[in-house]
Amino acid sequence: MASSALISDTQSWKDLRAHVEEINKTHLRDLLNHTDRCQSMMVEFDGILIDYSRQRATLDTLKKLFNLAEAAHVKEKIIRMFNGEHINSTENRPVLHVALRAPRDAVINSDGKNVVPEVWHVLDKIRDFSERVRSGSWVGATGKALKDVVAVGIGGSFLGPLFVHTALQTEAEASECARGRQLRFLANVDPIDVARNITGLNPETTLVVVVSKTFTTAETMLNARTMREWISSALGPQAVAKHMVAVSTNLKLVEQFGIDPNNAFAFWDWVGGRFSVCSAVGVLPLSLQYGFSIVEKFLKGASSVDQHFLSAPFEKNIPVLLGLLSVWNVSFLGYPARAILPYSQALEKLAPHIQQACYSNLLACLYVSMESNGKGVSIDGVPLPYQTGEIDFGEPGTNGQHSFYQLIHQGRVIPCDFIGVVKSQQPIYLKDEVVNNHDELMSNFFAQPDALAYGKTPEQLQKENIPEHLVSHKTFSGNRPSLSILLPSLSAYNIGQLLAIYEHRVAVQGFVWGINSFDQWGVELGKSLATQVRKQLHASRKKGESVEGFNFSTKMLITRYLEASAD
Ligand code: F6P
Repeated sequence: MASSALISDTQSWKDLRAHVEEINKTHLRDLLNHTDRCQSMMVEFDGILIDYSRQRATLDTLKKLFNLAEAAHVKEKIIRMFNGEHINSTENRPVLHVALRAPRDAVINSDGKNVVPEVWHVLDKIRDFSERVRSGSWVGATGKALKDVVAVGIGGSFLGPLFVHTALQTEAEASECARGRQLRFLANVDPIDVARNITGLNPETTLVVVVSKTFTTAETMLNARTMREWISSALGPQAVAKHMVAVSTNLKLVEQFGIDPNNAFAFWDWVGGRFSVCSAVGVLPLSLQYGFSIVEKFLKGASSVDQHFLSAPFEKNIPVLLGLLSVWNVSFLGYPARAILPYSQALEKLAPHIQQACYSNLLACLYVSMESNGKGVSIDGVPLPYQTGEIDFGEPGTNGQHSFYQLIHQGRVIPCDFIGVVKSQQPIYLKDEVVNNHDELMSNFFAQPDALAYGKTPEQLQKENIPEHLVSHKTFSGNRPSLSILLPSLSAYNIGQLLAIYEHRVAVQGFVWGINSFDQWGVELGKSLATQVRKQLHASRKKGESVEGFNFSTKMLITRYLEASAD
C-alpha cells in the first residue's frame, strides 16, 4: 500500500467488508459451542489471560484481520515507533513513551542519541528527592516534614497519575508505604476544585507539584498561581522554594514562574501528554506518596508488555489482537462505542484515563483513546471515508450493572471489556456468607459476558411460564460482543501491564486506520475561543465594554452572565 493510500482501498479491507455478511449469519450462542475456536481465542502473557471468544469473530475473521494488519504495515509501524522515528509527523516528533520504562541498560535511539540514560537520570533524581521528602530530610519553610502532596495538572498531566494512584491506594505494600501521607490532584479550573483540594491541608506540611508539559496550559497555570498564593500568604514568598516543585519539558518557564530549576523534573517532547504517566508526570507524585521502589515495579510491568508488543507474533500479541478486534468492531460491525468495565473498585479511574472523560471538562473527553484516535483525516491529511476511534466509557462492576447495563443488554450493542482480578487487594471473608466478598464480585464478572453473548429467547421464557405480555420485555437478543481480561492481582506490576496494553492497543488501531494517533489538534479551537471570551470578560468587567465580536447566542449568554454576576 502506498503511504498516502487509504487502508479502505485495500483488498484486505474489502474482504473484511464482505465477511460481515457471513458473520451476520452467526450468533455467539453457536460460536461459543466450538471449543477449538474458543481455545484459539485465549491468549496468555506474563500472568494475564485474555479471552476474546465472545467477540463476533471466527478464526477466518482473525486471518482477515491479520491480512489487514499486514496491508497497513502495522509491524513496520511498531518497529518505527520503538526505533525513535518521527512517527508523530504533524509535530515532527518521535513517540517514545516506551523509553520511559525501559531498563537502565536498554538502548533506544532517537535522532542518533540513546535516550535511556537521560530517562534514568531523571528517575534517579526523583528517587533521591522523594526519599528526602518522605524521610523528612527535606523540610518545609517552618522546618516541618512535608506529608501531603497536591499535584496540579490537567489532561495527561493528571488522569494517568490519578488512575495509578487510585489503583495503588488499597494495595497492601503500597498502602503501607503511604501511611500518614496524602496525594491529591487539582485539575479543574473551577475554583471549587481548589477549595476541595486545600480543605484540611496545612501549607506548612504540603508540597505542591505543578505538572505541565508545556507550562502554558491555562487551567494549570491559574491553579499553580492560586496554590503559590496559598503557600506564600501563609508562609511568606520565600516558602515557595521549599513547597513547590515542577514537572515539565519547559524548564525556562518553570524558572520564570519562580520554581527553582533544581527542583524541576524534566521530560521530553517525545512523550505525548496522554502517554506521560511513566515520565516524571506520574513517577514524581506517585513516588512521593508510595516510595520509588513501588513505582519502579509499575514501570517494570509496563516494560514487560512493551517487549511483548514489540516481539510477540501477532497471533499471540495482546495489544495487537485487541487493537485489531476494536477496528473490526468499529469499522466493520459499526459499533461506535466501547465500555471498559473493571470488576475492581481500585480500577475506577481506568475508564476515565482511557476515554479520558471523567472530569467536568468537555475538552478532557478526548483522551488516551479518544484524543489519539478521534481524527477525521489520514496521517497524510486525506479526509477519511470511515470513522476512527470509539466512544469509550465505563464504570467498575458491579456499580455499572445498576446504572447503564440495561442499555448494553437490551438497547445499543456496545462491545465491552470485562476486567477481573484473581486475587483481591483487600479480601474479606464473612463467615456466614455463601462465598467471600471477592467471589461475589467475580461471580458477576463471569456472568455478565455470557448474559450478553447468549441472551434469552422467547422460547426459554415461555418454558419458564413468563406471562405472554412480558415475553418481549424479558427477551434478550444476545450476540453482544465482549472480551474478558483476567489479571492475577492488582500489584503495581500488574497495573503497569494493564496501562501498557491499553496504550499499545490504541496505537495499533491508529496504525491500521492510517491516522496520527499522537497529535491532538482537535483540542485547540475551543482553547483559542476561550481566550477571546477571557479577554471580553476582562474588558467588560474592568472597562465596562459591551460584548462584541460573538454571534447572537454567545453574546446574549455572556451578557447575561456578566450582568447576573456583577457585584
Ligand atoms: O487536552 C490537551 C492537552 O494538550 C493534552 O494533550 C495534555 O495532556 C493536556 O492538554 C495538558 O497539557 P500540559 O501538560 O502541557 O499542561
